[in-house]
Amino acid sequence: MSHILVLGGTTEASALVASLAERGLTATLSYAGRVERPKAQPVPVRIGGFGGIEGLERYLREHRVTHLVDATHPFAATMSAHALAAAQNTATPHIRLTRPPWQPARGDRWQHAADIEAAVSALAGPPRRVMLALGRMHVNAFAVQGQHHYLLRFVDRPEQTPALPDHHLVVDRGPFTAEADTRLLRDHAIDLIVCKNAGGTGAEAKLIAARRLGVPVLMIDRPAPARGKAVHHPGEVLRWLGHAADLGV
Ligand SMILES: NC(=O)c1ccc[n+]([C@@H]2O[C@H](COP(=O)([O-])OP(=O)(O)OC[C@H]3O[C@@H](n4cnc5c(N)ncnc54)[C@H](OP(=O)(O)O)[C@@H]3O)[C@@H](O)[C@H]2O)c1
Repeated sequence: MSHILVLGGTTEASALVASLAERGLTATLSYAGRVERPKAQPVPVRIGGFGGIEGLERYLREHRVTHLVDATHPFAATMSAHALAAAQNTATPHIRLTRPPWQPARGDRWQHAADIEAAVSALAGPPRRVMLALGRMHVNAFAVQGQHHYLLRFVDRPEQTPALPDHHLVVDRGPFTAEADTRLLRDHAIDLIVCKNAGGTGAEAKLIAARRLGVPVLMIDRPAPARGKAVHHPGEVLRWLGHAADLGV
């Protein structure tokens, strides 16, 4: 009997567990617990950290996990490293499901930053109107560049007001459309977008809107990917599971 543990928090993870459920496969979806009301899922969900690599190893053994699918966000580097290590230590077959990164298209005006810290430094200079398209965990780092007006968009209303002296907060959950994001950038007279190279379609609308309006983008590049087998589409995970016939899938 197989038991597939999917580390989620992404649209790809949700798409994958929907396919697993359709096929009647036993799967559990794991969330870190960052979002207040995660959407309903067709498989059992567990929420919260495992307690490092050892905690994940314990979970894999106790729940007789036969396959570990790391479908976390490309910037969730700690979880991905833990997943790979725990899989290796417990000899659990492991695969990473990750979106291809966005590539600049004709008309894009991208500048690159290696990480959040580099993006903060790149914002030194005169006041601008910046859409900070980052999760609430990272926005306070930009308080040192308090000369700018910041437009923020979070999935949930934060318990604490962001530490940015001049900001406007929109609470909204994707996927977003290019039309709506074009309106948003226009309405707030945004002249720079700061975002992570998440890839995928759910958050791409702001880039299409930026291209249309000629707004520059400060793109935070991805951390180095964890080693191991990686694929880009849920269907490839299903094929990988299908090949693992000796494990009962
Ligand atoms: N980073 C982003 O930009 C971003 C964007 C959208 C969604 N997300 C999603 O948000 C979650 C957290 O991302 P992060 O960047 O904070 O992760 P991270 O820095 O790589 O992970 C920090 C810790 O959070 C716990 N954790 C992370 N993902 C988990 C999961 N799916 N299930 C159970 N525990 C998890 C683990 O705790 P223990 O060590 O205790 O196991 C991990 O060591 C992930 O599920 C990710 O897919 C992240």
